[in-house]
Order: sequence, then C-alpha cells, then structure tokens
Amino acid sequence: MGEASLTTLHLLATDPSAVAQAAELARDGQLVAVPTETVYGLAADARQPDAVKKIFAAKGRPADHPLIVHLADKSLVTEWVETLPDYFDALADAFWPGPLTIVAKKQAHVSDIVTGGHPTVGIRVPNHPAMLALLQRINSGLAAPSANPYKKISPTTAEQVLFGLSGKIAAVLDGGPCEVGLESTIVDISSATPRILRAGPITKAALEAVLNIEVDEPDVHTVAVPGNVKAHYQPSKPLTLLSTEELVARLSGQCEANTGVLYYSSQIEQMISENSANNELVDLKLGADKAKYAQGLYHGLHQLDQSSATEILLEAPPTAPEWRDVNDRLMRAAAQ
Ligand code: TXA
Ligand code: MG
Repeated sequence: MGEASLTTLHLLATDPSAVAQAAELARDGQLVAVPTETVYGLAADARQPDAVKKIFAAKGRPADHPLIVHLADKSLVTEWVETLPDYFDALADAFWPGPLTIVAKKQAHVSDIVTGGHPTVGIRVPNHPAMLALLQRINSGLAAPSANPYKKISPTTAEQVLFGLSGKIAAVLDGGPCEVGLESTIVDISSATPRILRAGPITKAALEAVLNIEVDEPDVHTVAVPGNVKAHYQPSKPLTLLSTEELVARLSGQCEANTGVLYYSSQIEQMISENSANNELVDLKLGADKAKYAQGLYHGLHQLDQSSATEILLEAPPTAPEWRDVNDRLMRAAAQ
C-alpha cells in the first residue's frame, strides 16, 4: 500500500474521544500529527522503530537527522537517557513543560532510527494540554519532528499540517493554533558546559539566569546538529529580507502587482495604507513585539506562499539577542 493513499483524519482536540483515537492510532504504529506550543509535530511511538521509519518517508527527511522524543513529564527522562548532569533538575523545573529540548546520552534501548544513529537523544516535555493528555495515555514517548515536508515551513495550525501531509499520515489532532510559533531551543547537556545547538524561544540569557553557569552558544548553528541545514523553513516563492529602509525604498517605487509584503513596523503599515499606486500588494502585518512576531511568522509565510503573491518581501526584524531564533529561521528561509 502506498503511503499517499491514506485518508487523513482531522481529530478535534475539543472532542472528548479525539485523544483516545489518536492514542489508538499511535499504538497501532501509525503517524499522527500533534499540537505542541511551538509547532505541530509528526508523531510516532518512539518504542516502535518501524512506525518511526514512516516519519522519514512521509516528510522526505534524510535518515540521519535525529528526532526529538516527547515525554509526559520529567520523571520519565531516565527511561530514555543514561546520564544527566547536576544542573538537569534546575533546567527541567524552570522550563518544562515548555519549548526546551535537551540532548543527552541515550539508553541502549533507544532506537538508532530515532537518533539517526547518534549516541545521544533529544528529549522534550511540551506544553500543550491535548499533547500531554495523549502522552499520558500512550504511556510511551512520541518521536516527532515538525509536521512539514522536508525543508518547508513548519506548521502552526492543523490546516497547514494537512496542506503539506494530507494523504501521507493517519490523522492530525487539532489543538488550535500554536502559541509560541517557533521550534524549541535545543541544548546539549552531555557535558559540564551546556551548549545551545539550536536557538529558540528560551534564550542563552534565560538559561544562564536559571543555571548560574555559562552556556555555550556557537555563532552559527550549522555544524553541530545534523538536520540543522542552511536552506530550511522555506516558502516555495522567492523570499527576500529587506531592512525597513530598503523596504521603504522598494515600496516608494512602482511594485509589480501581486508583490507579497510581510512587515511589522507602523512605518511600513502607514506607507502601504497611503500608497494607492501599490494597491495590488498582498500585504500582511506581524506583531511588533517578539513573542507576537514569532507566533505569527510561519503562519504569515504560509499565507503569503499560498496567496496570489509571486514573491515575498519581508521587513527584517530587530537583531537584539531575544530575536535570535527568529533571525536564525529567517536566514534559512531566505537561503538560496
Ligand atoms: O519545537 C520543537 O522542537 C518541535 C516540536 C514538534 O517539538 N520539533 C522540531 O523537530 O522542531 P525537528 O525534527 O524539526 O527539529 C529537531 C532537530 C533536528 O533536526 C536535530 O537537528 C535536533 O533536533 N536533534 C534531535 N536529536 C538530536 C541529537 N540527538 N543530537 C543533536 N541534535 C538533535
Ligand atoms: Mg523541523
């Protein structure tokens, strides 16, 4: 049977039987897309390697890109991880459930299919009620990458999951739009000094404030993490990042009809509303504070990608440290 022949169920988490149905499918070795506070995940029972293999097939993801195992709570971590540093408890107590993934030496039973052959495993306790209910019910871990086809934009709604993966997965558990909107911070805790492998909603400063030790953060998150590739999170239309000044200059001239503009500043908003010469723009405003911006970014990119826009101009956000995850994703989204 070809993977593309499945009928994908759309299970509403508000329906009392939805979590039970999703659990049944996962136990049966099938793929279920799940809501988390960051982005939707594409989940399989982490104790069933044959089920986990289907994730790679559905996404078109290379087999050596490791997956994150999601757990219901901190007490389960020792079932998956061999050794934990002293500072683990402080980290977990401060940030779980939440957008933090730890990477640590795996237990022998954890499949190479899950870890991409690596001796370590990524673990996260996500903060979403339907996902936590599902995890408690299956009494296992759920291996789940973001629920997008390889290199495409991560989904933050069930509709976006279906847009990319309908027919290739058994079901999506619809828990509404994701609150955070960007993938978790990944921290390698397998040595004395924690090291950030992927920038995320929890910053280096936030980690250091809790741990009272220095946290390493490489300038560019490319080499350390397999799967952390340069061209990623990509819309299918050409995406160009412009400073506010550059975007002002572009909008002052005559733009092509159907130019997509994704912006956040009131300066650009005012320009667009006043500039009737450019009334064929496809424009969308993101929140100006970091949390709102991050929450809307993937959704905005998806919307413009699926609109009549032929290209997307994006007003580059601030570069302050708290915006690091946003800028990291945008650099990859616009990479050639
Ligand atoms: O917020 C998130 O983290 C979301 C939600 C669904 O939890 N998941 C997510 O998964 O973003 P994914 O597969 O798209 O990105 C996870 C990345 C991998 O690409 C890999 O770079 C890194 O996590 N990773 C996982 N396990 C690792 C390991 N053992 N060593 C190093 N990196 C690892
Ligand atoms: Mg991903």
